[in-house]
Amino acid sequence: MFQSEDNSKLAAKNFDSQDQLKNFRERFHFPVHNGQPQLYFAGHSLGLMPKKASEYVNIELQSWAQYGVEGHFKGQNPWLPYHENITASFAKLVGAKDSEVVAMNTLTVNLHLMMVSFYKPKGERNKILIENNTFPSDKYAVDSQARFHGLDPQAVIVELKSDEDNGLSVSEQSIIETIKKLGSSLSLVMLGNCNYLSGQKFNFQKIVEAARAVGAKVGFNLAHGAGNLQMQLHDWDVDFSVWCSYKYLNSGPGGLAGAFVHEKHHLSKTLSRFEGWWGHSKDSRFQMGPQFEAIPTIEAWQLSNPPILQLASLRASMEIFDEAQISRLRKKGDHLTSYFQWLIEQNLKGVAEVITPTSRGSMLCLKLTKNPKLFMDQLIANGAIVDFREPNIIRATPAPLYNSYEDVFNLVQLMKEISNGQ
Ligand SMILES: Cc1ncc(COP(=O)(O)O)c(C=O)c1O
Repeated sequence: MFQSEDNSKLAAKNFDSQDQLKNFRERFHFPVHNGQPQLYFAGHSLGLMPKKASEYVNIELQSWAQYGVEGHFKGQNPWLPYHENITASFAKLVGAKDSEVVAMNTLTVNLHLMMVSFYKPKGERNKILIENNTFPSDKYAVDSQARFHGLDPQAVIVELKSDEDNGLSVSEQSIIETIKKLGSSLSLVMLGNCNYLSGQKFNFQKIVEAARAVGAKVGFNLAHGAGNLQMQLHDWDVDFSVWCSYKYLNSGPGGLAGAFVHEKHHLSKTLSRFEGWWGHSKDSRFQMGPQFEAIPTIEAWQLSNPPILQLASLRASMEIFDEAQISRLRKKGDHLTSYFQWLIEQNLKGVAEVITPTSRGSMLCLKLTKNPKLFMDQLIANGAIVDFREPNIIRATPAPLYNSYEDVFNLVQLMKEISNGQ
């Protein structure tokens, strides 16, 4: 895919000049190091701030100053329906109907709410299948759900096992076989997609098909998928998904999360759900009656009135995504990440090894062979931001929305200089 002459700054600049998405970079604030924009490769952790975020947040602060409680109904963007400003963008992003997505709460809260609805252990059908190297919060969530149902997590939480050379990723065949083997004991498949540590992307559609064949439900945690992968959650018949918005979606620290529930479940009479007043029918919510009347969409899962300032910054980011489009971002992302991997292979032999399989989004995980902590400290001291996972893994993401080919080239050059000096 790449030629030896691509291993140069000139080639990187050429790729940038041909990049149709290059101007989106200007819409973000880059942290500065020694007067220069940082080499920011941590969009899988906290995305950069859209320049419009402060404007959008300020509009709502002004509304509050000007109207007080009446801001719910008055001003440029009345707060009562404010979350609806995000709906169409989320739907496009994950391949859903508008009625199937909502911005609410935070990720782990949404995961619990979804498991209340979709993890209903009954008799021998009580197992939850999760990834190996599950993100700790997800493991705590599934374990505590098992205990909530009076079950022993050790007995009902089943982890996939890596069967690939990197010791982290899991072949598709192994996932499908595990689902088949669990058969009628499997209640729920709940996978992060991509995996936070290996960067592996799982095949949603095949997993749903395999789970359906044994009568299990399927949910995905898209913390590392939303804004990164292209998805068709509705068509793939996924039961539920949850995601945070502060990584690839650039909504700011602690930003509001998203949730998807397939429309086939919206009117179910048998599903359990934890409920609050924001899920109550909008026509009669303020009659303040004692009986819950569900909104006939995923909005029924809303509990509380949402934080408007967080929604405002999310809105600033989602407008950019609407314009950039996830299909174009993924196309650039595939090329940019392949370039990153190729440069690493050309320049960092014996220093860093890419362990992310080719089924992935934009993030690469690199195993460092010597002095990983020192290496990391020197990257930071020289203005590069990646992140470190014990004992020797660096995760680095060229985000197609704001990272350039030149950024990628400069990062690999910096890594090469550091390794030469070690
Ligand atoms: C895979 C995964 N799951 C769960 C979480 C926790 O998210 P939150 O703190 O928003 O609930 C994260 C956060 O980084 C994550 O990456």
